[in-house]
Amino acid sequence: MSRIVYVNGDYVPEEEAKISIFDRGFLFADGVYEVTSVLDGKLIDFDGHAKRLERSLNELDMAAPVTMEELLAIHRELMAQNDLTEGMIYLQVTRGSDGDRDFPYPDASKVPSSLVLFTQSKKIADSPAAKVGMKVISVEDIRWGRRDIKTVQLLYPCMGKMAAKAAGCDDAWMVEDGTVTEGTSNNAYIVKDGTIITRHLSNDILHGITRRAVLAFAREAQMQVEERAFTIEEAQAADEAFVTSASTFVMPVVEIDGAQLGDGTPGPVAKRLREIYLAESLKAAL
Ligand code: PDD
Repeated sequence: MSRIVYVNGDYVPEEEAKISIFDRGFLFADGVYEVTSVLDGKLIDFDGHAKRLERSLNELDMAAPVTMEELLAIHRELMAQNDLTEGMIYLQVTRGSDGDRDFPYPDASKVPSSLVLFTQSKKIADSPAAKVGMKVISVEDIRWGRRDIKTVQLLYPCMGKMAAKAAGCDDAWMVEDGTVTEGTSNNAYIVKDGTIITRHLSNDILHGITRRAVLAFAREAQMQVEERAFTIEEAQAADEAFVTSASTFVMPVVEIDGAQLGDGTPGPVAKRLREIYLAESLKAAL
């Protein structure tokens, strides 16, 4: 059975979903997105994702296609129509189409933004990758300067994942001016002598919704947290490392540029944070 997807007000089988070839998301990557995870048929941190979406839209002077309450209703309807109990909901807003290709933004009162959502069924709580951990390589971070806006310009992250794959690894950490910014599609952390270290928030990285929750849970559990930049060398000498995102939660990293961390298996802090995150985020799920 094909998925039912949401396109600009309609719930349709995926084969029937249509977007204009003039859509600015397609032509200019003029769009923003969110990925919200689903566990036990409930949305994890919907509020956080909805607020970040609003912020991304505001930063780009893009009109919200629906209210955040309507967005929640659409998420729920899609979960119901696709019997989604575990996985993700992908949401994308683009600046729509004015029927041609022209660089300046069209008048938002005449050209409505476009909204697309679809479900992705995936086992994320009981993930086999979380049991063995990921191997990462480093790549230069050559993305644009507003990485805090969650835009659909993801070609460079795709290239990073391909470089990792070619090196027999799982993902890449991006490095700018000598320090790690973030993973291709996640926030990056190291642990040294019990302290969790992750880059501070700025326009250099995406302000991860999972990051915010994980750091809050870590502090509640009396763990030490330092929000600062770190180098690949420091990461290679760390006791352990991990990444966070809505699609992986807390995912251990066991190797960085060929250097094994600890005994090469997921570390205790990453494992504990993963457990805490799963339990606590489910309690607050919608
Ligand atoms: N990626 N940094 C980048 C560059 C990301 O693309 C993501 C998420 C994150 C983590 O953010 P959050 O915790 O809010 O998911 C950090 C999503 C999952 C994706 O592109 O599929």
